[in-house]
Amino acid sequence: MNELTKEQKEKVKNILSQMTLEEKIGQMNQESVSIVGGFDVSFEELIEMMTDGRISHEEFEKIMGSAEKDYHEDEIRAGGVGSIMVQDPQKANELQRIAVEESRLKIPLLFGLDVIHGFRSVYPIAIAEAGSFEPELFERTARMAAKESRSQGVSWHFAPMIDVARDARWGRVSEGPGEDPYLVTEFAKSKVRGLQNDTSSPKNYVAACLKHYVAYGACESGRDYNTVSMAKSMLYNTYLPPFKEAAKEGAATAMASFNDINGVPSTVNTFALRELLKETYGLPGFVVSDANGIRECVAHGIAEDNYDAGVQAANAGLDMDMGTGIFRDYMKKAVEEGKVSMEVIDEAVERILGVKVWLGLFEHPYITEEDMHQYDTLPKEHIALAREAAEKSVVLLKNEGHLLPLKKDAKISLVGALAEKKEEIIGAWALSWKKEDCVTILDAFEEKGVNYSYYPCCDVEGEINEEELKGAISDGDVIVAVVGENVSMSGEASSRADITLPGKQREMLQRLLESGKPVVAILMNGRPLALKWEQEHIQAIIEGWHLGIQMGPAITGILFGEVNPSGKLAATFPAMTGQCPIYYNHPNTGRPGSKSKFTSRYLDAGFEPLYPFGYGLSYTSYEYSNLAVAENKDSLNITLDVENTGDMAGVETVQLYMRDVTASLVRPIKELKGFQKVTLEKGEKKKIECKLLKENMGFYNDNGEYLLEDGKFQIFAGGNSKDNLMEEIEIHF
Ligand code: BGC
Repeated sequence: MNELTKEQKEKVKNILSQMTLEEKIGQMNQESVSIVGGFDVSFEELIEMMTDGRISHEEFEKIMGSAEKDYHEDEIRAGGVGSIMVQDPQKANELQRIAVEESRLKIPLLFGLDVIHGFRSVYPIAIAEAGSFEPELFERTARMAAKESRSQGVSWHFAPMIDVARDARWGRVSEGPGEDPYLVTEFAKSKVRGLQNDTSSPKNYVAACLKHYVAYGACESGRDYNTVSMAKSMLYNTYLPPFKEAAKEGAATAMASFNDINGVPSTVNTFALRELLKETYGLPGFVVSDANGIRECVAHGIAEDNYDAGVQAANAGLDMDMGTGIFRDYMKKAVEEGKVSMEVIDEAVERILGVKVWLGLFEHPYITEEDMHQYDTLPKEHIALAREAAEKSVVLLKNEGHLLPLKKDAKISLVGALAEKKEEIIGAWALSWKKEDCVTILDAFEEKGVNYSYYPCCDVEGEINEEELKGAISDGDVIVAVVGENVSMSGEASSRADITLPGKQREMLQRLLESGKPVVAILMNGRPLALKWEQEHIQAIIEGWHLGIQMGPAITGILFGEVNPSGKLAATFPAMTGQCPIYYNHPNTGRPGSKSKFTSRYLDAGFEPLYPFGYGLSYTSYEYSNLAVAENKDSLNITLDVENTGDMAGVETVQLYMRDVTASLVRPIKELKGFQKVTLEKGEKKKIECKLLKENMGFYNDNGEYLLEDGKFQIFAGGNSKDNLMEEIEIHF
């Protein structure tokens, strides 16, 4: 969000000066959906109803479009609502008309929605797309989503989700760009640029919302909403950087997370919201609570009642209340009783109005008929981008004996009910997709005219169908099994204590293997899974995640070798669930894990993950050599050679890591500091050059001070976080 112009600032001040206290509080109020049809449900309950099948996706859309008429209308007319979640453009126009024509000050409503990985053109879930190691791609997909959503009236995305997430049990690892603070930061900045920076027309941009601020991903034992306890240095070094940098990039808004941090819930955390996010990082717009967040402070045990919770939240710097009505119901009393000052209210409203002005909502409050129908037929470029993103997100985990790519005329048994389910390719938190746009793996097999027979055999949670299994075993020469998690098994409120393949799927794989025929497993999942058994037994494994509307063609492109896989893992895969949380950039212990017993390891799971962060194979192979580190005044110049030693052109992600060997605080054994994607023809060798700025080689202590300490550093380069070349250098800053 660029700084407002002088005129825009004056406009905000001018409106503010005319507002009554009630109207100001109205701007701080976001309404959740209340539904006609005899029952009231919150937005989250509605999502749950859709994900567990109680209502269809079509019904969900209808309900979202038909938010209870009377419920909102009078409040809007009275200036009592600042923002609403609606995704039906007609409904948005209807409500907007009341706001801008019938309310006293004619302030437009801001329509917000969860658009996490695409609006109608759903692209891969973020943990998958981060595996492309291509932030610029994330920028392009974000821009596509911004345009599509704005055409339907949604001009505020509750995205990017930039919680560093290191515990695969947590269902929300699916929504963010993985476990590494540097990678998450790069992706956070690019998403903000994609959503916000094309201000050439109000049709092209939306306001971003950084969430969930902060450290939500560190919930104890990976259980959603759970408590978070950590050293301040950890907070500064790992969880804050994506928010800091994205706020500096101009992200308009942020969302306070549900969790407490060291005893203080984010919703009422003055240090996190006011001191850091607003005053130090300079967030230009406003902070919204997460849904119901203010009320939950009572359950946390930090507020006596709703009134107290509202007072604490407003004073901490929370500007907008998502869905509880607590600001609406209590803020006037709080001001009258002197519990919340007018300055606090004015600051919140100024920030909210500033975002509305910047979005151009005062000049363009409505969606025109033309806008509304602009994407009725999904543009070819959008489909192509969803396909490109899907292809670049796929990670080849294993390929024994070069089983892949498959020959075009191979006789295939396609197995696994996930192969045919349109609703299972779109990933958690996709709300605005259409069935007709979704191309499943089965659809793609059919379209390609491949020589295949399809046997569902087993659902994610169902029984094995013996007849179909028999057919699958006897029919094809090679078996392609699509296995994994349903969409509802990741995302919010979807933590799992056992992250192996659910249901009977492993048993199905075992039975298929007993046929003696080669088996390829294609995984569809929203989190790293514990795949020790699969790695030991299955010949080829493709990590397909939930890739969005073009999942099918992306997978067949890779299966048949038209596309050489290039994705890398943005999160470590454990061998067993009990290793969680497991991540590459952990601090060393005094007894680093090794084969010997009295080291930091498990008796039954050792100390190493199954697949490290940054890992991903290709149909070709790469060799790294000649790592050299040269010191300049302000930076290190790092060079190395990478050679394509296989039989096919490919794209490799060269990763640069660093270790501060001795410091005043124990530092991670490796830290990602840069990456470069390089295209290499068969036999080609390229010299790669990267620069590491010395100012980026430091770390924060518990007081939030950034330290650059002299001493020995190790510089690593390689194709993943484990297998690296290494050089040592002594630095005096
Ligand atoms: C989630 C947020 C989401 C919000 C609004 C909450 O339950 O935690 O990520 O943006 O709902 O839908």
